[in-house]
Amino acid sequence: MTGGAGYIGAHVVRALEASGHVAIALDDLTAGLSERLGQTELVSFDLASPGAKDQLIETFRTKNIEAVIHLAARKAVGESVLRPEFYYQQNLNSVINLLEAMHEANVLKLVFSSSAAVYGSPELSLVPEDYNCKPINPYGETKLIGEWMISNAQRAWGLRAVALRYFNVAGAGFDDLGDTSVANLIPIALKAIREDKPIEVFGSDWPTKDGSCIRDYIHVADLADAHIRALEYLNEENREHLVFNVGSGQGSSVLEVIQALRDVIQKDFKVNLVARRAGDPAELAADVSRINSTLNWQAKHDLLSIVESAYRASLN
Ligand code: UFG
Repeated sequence: MTGGAGYIGAHVVRALEASGHVAIALDDLTAGLSERLGQTELVSFDLASPGAKDQLIETFRTKNIEAVIHLAARKAVGESVLRPEFYYQQNLNSVINLLEAMHEANVLKLVFSSSAAVYGSPELSLVPEDYNCKPINPYGETKLIGEWMISNAQRAWGLRAVALRYFNVAGAGFDDLGDTSVANLIPIALKAIREDKPIEVFGSDWPTKDGSCIRDYIHVADLADAHIRALEYLNEENREHLVFNVGSGQGSSVLEVIQALRDVIQKDFKVNLVARRAGDPAELAADVSRINSTLNWQAKHDLLSIVESAYRASLN
């Protein structure tokens, strides 16, 4: 499990252990926190470095690894626009090292964490997996190329892979596993409220129901469960699909997220409507029929539960 000490990774580790698997976390701890792992074994090196392939082969062999869940990646969209080479170096070299090492060590199962960022700005309100992907930033490009690499490895040497395209992941499945990075709307808003500063809404003139952007918020605990379903799917002989959207199937606007924060926190706070943020699509939400029917998975938590759990974890 790469990226196992991250906010999402640590939830996946706990879901794996709860379902009877033994997980080993591989994390270079640049964004991950070892305290999220408790008793889970941690192996630490940079997956994108030239020596990583040999370290991976060694790890696969000595620890009898049966499957890999690859979450480790740089994921800040804005930073990817400013430092594209770094994003390509990190997010693609890691996949190359991983695939080469898996091939050599004969580890044949892979769950790859992809992103709704592969779609760019789709013209549909609920986007299905076979929609024409046109990412609009280097981060989304690295995820799409990662999908292409694993799809080719699947054809070339029998890799069994699934790519999960995460939509907007938020909330906390455990109070000690909140998102501490303050990089996305809900953690940013919670921090602003704590510091008695206004929440900035990026754009109020989008062509949407209330003028603010629409996203598909998915509870991190539901997302973690989707990884368990994906692993089970890899046991099947004939797998029809390589990619799956992981979302709630419902779009929520920024103003609806702010209303949910008001409902949960029961306190008034300031909101400023400011200019649009460059690179934002107006609307991005998942068509989840494929994951519902093929993996028998659907989101259990709604927006209120996402916001409520994120708030509770932020008090921890
Ligand atoms: N937003 C605000 N104010 C803020 C922060 C965000 O209005 O202070 C708005 C954004 O404009 C956007 C929405 O809140 O409309 C969500 O923004 P985030 O920055 O939380 O997330 P993004 O939708 O930009 O991107 C996230 C992940 C990506 C992933 C994408 C998939 O960060 O990695 O979801 O949908 F690809």
